[in-house]
Amino acid sequence: MNDADRNALKREAAEAAVELVEDGMIVGLGTGSTAAFAVEALARRHRQGLRFVGIPTSERTAAQAKAAGIPLSSFAEHRQIDLTIDGADEVERGTLNLIKGLGGALLREKIVANASRRLAIVVDGVKLVDRLGTHAPVPVEVVAFGLEVTQAALKVFAAEVRPRLTPAGDLFVTDGGNRILDCHFAGPMADPARLEDRIRRVVGVVESGLFIGRADPVFVADGQGVHRLD
Ligand code: 5RP
Repeated sequence: MNDADRNALKREAAEAAVELVEDGMIVGLGTGSTAAFAVEALARRHRQGLRFVGIPTSERTAAQAKAAGIPLSSFAEHRQIDLTIDGADEVERGTLNLIKGLGGALLREKIVANASRRLAIVVDGVKLVDRLGTHAPVPVEVVAFGLEVTQAALKVFAAEVRPRLTPAGDLFVTDGGNRILDCHFAGPMADPARLEDRIRRVVGVVESGLFIGRADPVFVADGQGVHRLD
């Protein structure tokens, strides 16, 4: 599938999720190319009169939302988000567990997801897998200090642990000033919930991109239409 076709599916899924937004809601704004279509659709609905405020999951999304005229807020004003719309890198059929963070925003995304009554996930069909770890590595956000030691500690769980680099070859720096280690597994994961727990216990780890039991619902666009998984 080419990029244009995939983008059309991402847009369809995003637009379906935006239908869940109601007047007066506090809305978490996700990060990535699919979430960006949701922000675009939300901006359109805002211009049509829907009242809501957005809490962005990254500086990138904040800039997009601001430029599109969406009113933004923060946790200083609202502790509880009604609905967050975000993308994912893999969605496990059946459990709806997720891998997120290939866009580098996993920490803020998890904070926003945790503060949300509902987390609507928007993906194209390629991201739907039988078991997590089929295509995507698990990104792990770590503090910069002791990166090599944390990398070695994560190697106990993963086949390969690679520091994320920018296209220029520098270490990728998250919005929180941390680094990312991408954990590649030899095959699909047997027990992602246990793995999330074990990764979190490694000193130096801030958060992992495993999102367990959080998605509600998932919108998947696959060319046959948009399917809602609850
Ligand atoms: C960013 C994310 C993104 O939601 C995820 O990487 C999917 O991105 P895209 O919609 O561009 O495929 O978790 O941290």
